[in-house]
Amino acid sequence: APLKVTKVLCIGAGYVGGPTCAVIALKCPHITVTIADINKARIDAWNSLDFNLPIYEPGLEDVVRQCRGRNLFFSTDVVKGIKEADLIFVSVNTPTKKSGVGAGFAADLNYVELATRQIAEVATTSKIVVEKSTVPCRTAESMRTILEANSKPNCRFDILSNPEFLAEGTAISDLFNPDRVLIGSLQTTEGKDACASLAAIYANWVPKENILTVGLWSSELSKLAANAMLAQRISSVNALSAICEATGANIDEVAHAVGYDSRMGPKFLKASVGFGGSCFQKDILNLVYLSESLHLPEVASYWRQVVEMNEYQKRRFSKRVVDTLFNTITGKQITVLGFAFKADTGDTRESAAITLIRDFLSERAFVNVYDPKVEESQIWYDLAEACPTMTLDNIKKQVKIHKSALEASKNAEAVVIATEWKEFKEIDWAEVYKHMKKPAFVFDGRLLVDADALSKIGFKVATIGRPS
Ligand code: NAD
Ligand code: UGA
Repeated sequence: APLKVTKVLCIGAGYVGGPTCAVIALKCPHITVTIADINKARIDAWNSLDFNLPIYEPGLEDVVRQCRGRNLFFSTDVVKGIKEADLIFVSVNTPTKKSGVGAGFAADLNYVELATRQIAEVATTSKIVVEKSTVPCRTAESMRTILEANSKPNCRFDILSNPEFLAEGTAISDLFNPDRVLIGSLQTTEGKDACASLAAIYANWVPKENILTVGLWSSELSKLAANAMLAQRISSVNALSAICEATGANIDEVAHAVGYDSRMGPKFLKASVGFGGSCFQKDILNLVYLSESLHLPEVASYWRQVVEMNEYQKRRFSKRVVDTLFNTITGKQITVLGFAFKADTGDTRESAAITLIRDFLSERAFVNVYDPKVEESQIWYDLAEACPTMTLDNIKKQVKIHKSALEASKNAEAVVIATEWKEFKEIDWAEVYKHMKKPAFVFDGRLLVDADALSKIGFKVATIGRPS
């Protein structure tokens, strides 16, 4: 019969493990939830008295305030957590491999494997082990082999796949009202029982019909498939935005007309300077690698094109800036508004802003950056990584970080909107105009501002998916 879970451990206190398990603690007061991480600074931040949490998500602080110290605990003691738990989420990072076989494409499963080995080593009672990280199809098989090869008497391990579909910036509302919760298990009696135990946790707040139970491999592949198809929509609309710029069509109107088809739907059709974030590119490349390993080169190149289109979109946008500014930005002041990969997050992983600034620096422009949430140290870290041929001192000679959009745009020749922060819509653009060099340009990479209103002020406006 399914075990009734009372103690949950989450290994990995990042963007996924933190919010996901904090919400489980909130919705299941009868379950004790521990979130453990080897990164002490991160755990200290989760435990900080002033709730200065390591990640920014609207609504997250409120959830942590309600549960921390009650049935939610943050700890660096992974071993103790494993010993005590009935059910363990593995929510560690799975970045793209930087070296070795599959470098640049395959997922680095080292962190997943180390966590799995540690579970096998220290567990003295049976555990349900849940793969929360996004992993290539059939990773659960490797985890099972490691666990079974190390199991002790009276100590069995059941593996589930339970991928996470939350998006950053809306993590808490996504977790409160998920479109679906997906649980994959082996179709054995034990596998189905383990699946029922996890489903019972979610059933505390998710309607039963939204909890989908499938086979292990389908569950793993569905996660990669969902991200690949979401990213594909953006690359499709971005490919069309290039046609719009060249013909006089307007991408907003095209996307609206296309999305009105109920089979298509209106969401996720916003043209942009390119998608960013820690997952889309990583997961598609992972799918490309998987397809190649399975000797399916046509499938691999189909998905690879989604990422290539995204690179093209970023390149195309920075080229448009240079072309419009009379074919040179050398020595010019360019303001970049937004550094995060999307609004309402402080996360900068794979942010299009990084690529744009790198391109502007290689044209020897001066760049002024403002983002309402990203830490200054993070911006320096990302730029140093993106510009390996420049020293940080040289980068700092060309880049300034500012405390407001207005301050960042003083004396600039052009303002480039890279992230769709709501506050950029509400800037006093007339005031910005006054303090800029003339002609003053705005490049809207996010279809954010009212181009007609800005033109009336005097700006020359270039918008993604519209002719100049
Ligand atoms: P993250 O880097 O923010 O967090 C991972 C954490 O795991 C780190 O703090 C790291 O120190 C910790 N860790 C690594 N190995 C450990 C070990 N052996 N013991 C204890 N702690 C360990 O990553 P994330 O953004 O939370 O992503 C985690 C996984 O979830 C990835 O596979 C990702 O693809 C997937 N995912 C992410 C998102 C997202 O929006 N970020 C959404 C859905 C799925
Ligand atoms: C994405 C998925 O939406 C989540 O379902 C998934 O769980 C997650 O990846 C993951 O696996 O990590 P996330 O990357 O947090 O979530 O954010 P998205 O809202 O998907 O945005 C990704 C990028 O696409 C952003 O740069 C965003 O600005 C861009 N985007 C999004 C567009 O350019 N146009 C759109 O219409 C939508």
